[in-house]
Amino acid sequence: MIDILDRVRNKGLQSKIVSAEEAAAFFKPGMNVAMSGFTSSAYPKAVPLALAERMKKDPFTINLWTGASVGPELDTALAEVHGIKTRLPYQTDKALRSEINDGSVNYLDLHLSESAQLARYGYLGKIDIAVVEACAIDEDGNLIPTTSLGNAASFVQQADKVIVEVNTSQPLDLEGMHDVYVPLDPPNRLPIPIVKASDRIGTPYIPCTPDKILYIVPCDIPDHTRSLRPIDENSKKMSEFTLKFLDDEIKAGRMPKNLLPLQSGVGNVANAVMAGFVDSDLKDLTVYTEVIQDGMLDLIDAGKLSFASGTAFSPSPEGLKRFYADVQKYKKYLLIRPEEISNNPEVVRRLGVIAMNTAIECDIYGNVNSTHITGTKMMNGIGGSGDFARNAYLTIFYTPSTAKDGKISSVVPFCSHIDHTEHDVDIIITEQGIADLRGKTPHERALEIINNCAHPDYRPMLLDYFHRADEATKHANTPHILEEAFSFHERFLKTGTMQK
Ligand code: COA
Repeated sequence: MIDILDRVRNKGLQSKIVSAEEAAAFFKPGMNVAMSGFTSSAYPKAVPLALAERMKKDPFTINLWTGASVGPELDTALAEVHGIKTRLPYQTDKALRSEINDGSVNYLDLHLSESAQLARYGYLGKIDIAVVEACAIDEDGNLIPTTSLGNAASFVQQADKVIVEVNTSQPLDLEGMHDVYVPLDPPNRLPIPIVKASDRIGTPYIPCTPDKILYIVPCDIPDHTRSLRPIDENSKKMSEFTLKFLDDEIKAGRMPKNLLPLQSGVGNVANAVMAGFVDSDLKDLTVYTEVIQDGMLDLIDAGKLSFASGTAFSPSPEGLKRFYADVQKYKKYLLIRPEEISNNPEVVRRLGVIAMNTAIECDIYGNVNSTHITGTKMMNGIGGSGDFARNAYLTIFYTPSTAKDGKISSVVPFCSHIDHTEHDVDIIITEQGIADLRGKTPHERALEIINNCAHPDYRPMLLDYFHRADEATKHANTPHILEEAFSFHERFLKTGTMQK
């Protein structure tokens, strides 16, 4: 109890300290509940676990808004007791995914940069309560955030009442690592004055007043971060293609020697690409991204990173230990912003970001599916990929050329669902090679993608489709035989393989 009292620096607020069970009693069916958290970082843990226990005995549902995906104490716990009616703006949870795909959860899959604004404008109704993890509460009631910001500041701004989970497992050294800025809405919005990744434009805390705080709940459950898979051969090859390509861009005079600010998506390919940067001759790199992962710590340790800004620090369990062991050192290089700013189209376009994200599949013209397995089943969501893909200087998508042990090609005639159009995609990289789509017509792109990126087992089928479509449409701008375009996916669904 001593530690929590030290962390609630406004003495008047100490009387609001209650147990998670007492706080969970506040929730009512149908409430719009806005929680902090982005990836497995800085989400409330004790309150949702207590809420799930309550829902087990007395079933009801809430609408859950967060920054993005969150850890199991929130999404898994509530999904397992069927406690979520509507969920937004992104998730990666198995139990929740299955409820989304059986129709029992309404899922709003949103561009992350837009989710706070959508909530502010009231399209989703009013926030009934915000639940936010903090390291500490300062003398004025302001909240010192932990390992992510996501939409927390905007949710606190909009909510009349806030439950603060003060997490004593989060080191107080995190204080000072955040830059909180919530833009005004049009017509009063001003330019966001960020011209380099390290620029600070806001406050190091989430503004809050003591009267807004309903309860303070102590919690000592650490962030449940995810382990990274060892780097596989395919990811290693994609990383090598990336470095060679960027080196050629530098030689062609299209990129400075230290590149432009990097954005890298979540997961294993992103991790492999970052590892490639660590082993390269590149230095003075900057990062303007959404998620700061282990690779960024490696870049700092290798003396190759000058600065990284993101909305979440989202390492593996080993990376989290490494970070906690020397927060003072790492925080000189790292800054955490609201996702409305880390993913902001205006800033991404100004800085000339190099966006590197993973796709489920791409088609022969360069459209990309990031979200739906065989066109219907939601995987995770678009996350920040659209924020970056549309606005980056250079947009790269990665995918292994096949999935499901080679039974399905990830290069298809027509994507079964499109998140990023051919107009947003510059480069596609698979373990087979790299397709540079810049300045190319649809015909040229199709041949570049099929010949360089498709797996040899599927290349003849794709070439055959393209040439027949070209003939059938008398060389139309974007040749397709529409009734045949999805037969690849249909074949997989009916026979378990796309191969003829
Ligand atoms: N056809 C059918 N299934 C496919 C497939 C394809 N072409 N490609 C992948 N899959 C399946 C895999 O088999 C796997 O299925 P399983 O869960 O049953 O094993 C699943 O999709 C995930 O594939 P995996 O290779 O493990 O994915 P990943 O961890 O590399 O993630 C995305 C890939 C696209 C799902 C992930 O990057 C994502 O959610 N992206 C969207 C958000 C984003 O880009 N965020 C970053 C922006 S800052």
